[in-house]
Amino acid sequence: MVTGCSYEVIGDDNRMRKKLIVANWKMNMLRSEAKDYTISLVERLENLPLKVEVVLVPAYTLLDVVYGVIKDTNIQLGAQNVSWQVSGAFTGEISPYMLTDVGCRWAIIGHSERRRILGETDDMVRKKIKSSLDAGLIPIVCVGETLEEREKGKAIEIIREQIETSLRDIKLDDPANLVIAYEPVWAIGTGENPKPNEVEYFYEVIQKIIGTIFGEIASQMRILYGGSVTKEFYITPPDIDGALVGGASLDADSFTKMVQLAGG
Ligand code: 13P
Repeated sequence: MVTGCSYEVIGDDNRMRKKLIVANWKMNMLRSEAKDYTISLVERLENLPLKVEVVLVPAYTLLDVVYGVIKDTNIQLGAQNVSWQVSGAFTGEISPYMLTDVGCRWAIIGHSERRRILGETDDMVRKKIKSSLDAGLIPIVCVGETLEEREKGKAIEIIREQIETSLRDIKLDDPANLVIAYEPVWAIGTGENPKPNEVEYFYEVIQKIIGTIFGEIASQMRILYGGSVTKEFYITPPDIDGALVGGASLDADSFTKMVQLAGG
């Protein structure tokens, strides 16, 4: 099991969660672009005292080229999906051990694009979380409501169901080893954002739900926000543990600014 380095002691022995900024590149970039981007990001972040954790999450075909550039830096690597199977006759699937083999430490699981477009269910998400933890990957579990669910006042119910089903029977000894990303579906790729106080409200709701599952350690688990994150939006909700960034992460300059704003 990977043990996290995600806490730093601040002031009067208060443990504070370290901010986490994750770049989800989705299905973008070819190898040469990925290499150029990563080299330029490493140069930009090189002289910063990195007080935040930074994770790049490229498509599978780019993992090795990105890892080649970041392997001696503080920047970490993640995958956008993972199989719940370990090995065998599962054409087109990639196992968590294949991901750790290529340098990954993280895996995004249950992204709404996979749920909506590819029919991924909470039960599949649960199996993927389990297999990832077994292999030493840190799952970033995505939850969030659609516009329709939001308008019907069902957001909390949906998020509760997603979290409770996908984390059922999941054991966690280190709170750094699992991250929840609140990504309202209606905010993804639309330029729409919830109000900062809404993000904080959902943050508290999610913290309560994970508290009923994991008990005391839940207060030390990180909860990210994702959905049309820009540097302007990101800085407004100060208590959020970080961001899962899509479109704006494809530009090394704007991604660097977000890392800096988060305390880089
Ligand atoms: P955008 O930042 O492009 O809205 O994407 C968010 C997202 O889906 C990150 O996983």
